[in-house]
Amino acid sequence: MAIVCKSAAEIEKMRRSGHVVREVLDHLRTLVSPGVTTMELERAAEQKMKDLGAKPAFKGYFDYPCVLCTSVNEEIVHGIPSEKRVLHAGDIVSIDCGVVLDGYYGDAAVTVPVDDSVTPELRKLLEVTEASLYRAIEAARIGNAVGDVGAAVQEFVEAAGFSVVREFVGHGIGTRLHEEPQVPNFGTRGHGARLREGMVLAIEPMVNSGKPGTRVLDDKWTAVTADGSYSAHFEHCVAVMRDGPMILTQ
Ligand code: CO
Repeated sequence: MAIVCKSAAEIEKMRRSGHVVREVLDHLRTLVSPGVTTMELERAAEQKMKDLGAKPAFKGYFDYPCVLCTSVNEEIVHGIPSEKRVLHAGDIVSIDCGVVLDGYYGDAAVTVPVDDSVTPELRKLLEVTEASLYRAIEAARIGNAVGDVGAAVQEFVEAAGFSVVREFVGHGIGTRLHEEPQVPNFGTRGHGARLREGMVLAIEPMVNSGKPGTRVLDDKWTAVTADGSYSAHFEHCVAVMRDGPMILTQ
């Protein structure tokens, strides 16, 4: 399958689904606090999607059971919301949300501190990961390569003393949640597919405070750091436009 370039009308539809994703995430972040369970976030997300007339993108995708991924502390991505998972003071939680609206997908993630007691080191992990996403977005320009996007993340993250996850990557997005190309958070400038007008990329750096290694828990979904260090995750959908990158999920 080749990389699909979207028309202006399609990108407008993706801006709408991206807007729904942002509304859901903005709502959920107001609910995050000590004592809240990740299942409460799941239920709030499901309701919000319904209110906004969008369908969840993750539920049922390869039999994934929920509308959100909620990944706490050493969990990197694909944490499954649970009644038993209570957020505690000092935790960080990644909330990843996808919807489909009028046939087009939106996908975004944020990682938030559960309360003010999160350590300065963890706050730095969140800041660096989010900043690396914006570095990558800046590289999402016509004529650049996919490797320029990954290199932008990797260089910034490693200079800050953190490491990028290799086993999970960003992706093209459009009429399917995952389209070509794969968008790694590491790479070499000038390498990989060239970006063209109308491509839409879900760029999603996953950054570990310790070593980059990962493993997947027995639930077959939850990816955690192999060394038990903390991990952060931010994601936006970005259209490659003639006048530069356009963030669809804000
Ligand atoms: Co994604």
